[in-house]
Amino acid sequence: MNFVNVFKMSGVVAVIAALGFTLAAQANQDDHVEQAIVERIKPPVELNTGSAAEVNRKPTAKEVAEGLCYNCHQFGGLGAPSNRNEWSKRYNARGMNGLLNTALRGKGDMPKKGGAVFLSDSEIKSVITFMLKENKVL
Ligand code: HEC
Repeated sequence: MNFVNVFKMSGVVAVIAALGFTLAAQANQDDHVEQAIVERIKPPVELNTGSAAEVNRKPTAKEVAEGLCYNCHQFGGLGAPSNRNEWSKRYNARGMNGLLNTALRGKGDMPKKGGAVFLSDSEIKSVITFMLKENKVL
């Protein structure tokens, strides 16, 4: 092999190396694009993907209150009772059963069961009890 051929060969090697580099860069970019798509289409709330028992269990009263009811009942959104004074007025006027009945039916801006229609009546009662205790009414 003379000098010219060696020179030509190394040119070919260089072209192949450059091509390989470009492909690797492309693959890397595809990864980024894929990651961006996965980020964009993932649900806004991460679902609980724990064990079957963990997924199937009902939320506790605390979890329902904090995850749902307190959206309105913590800061008085839409006029929802959200402090000891407001809760005790209502509790003294209607008692537990009165509060429960309103919550089950819904009233004004308060949807039926506060939106937690998947809970039984007695579970809603537990959530109300939890909120009354947190507000030191009970
Ligand atoms: C979208 C906002 C919103 C959510 C979510 C919400 N509430 Fe309410 N809630 C209200 C409003 C507003 C009132 C006041 C209704 C009125 O008296 O006009 C109210 C009132 C109540 C009352 C008092 C009823 C009475 O007789 O005075 C109870 C009890 C209650 N909610 C329980 C709950 C529970 C339990 C949850 C969660 C499972 C919940 N709420 C979620 C807005 C909400």
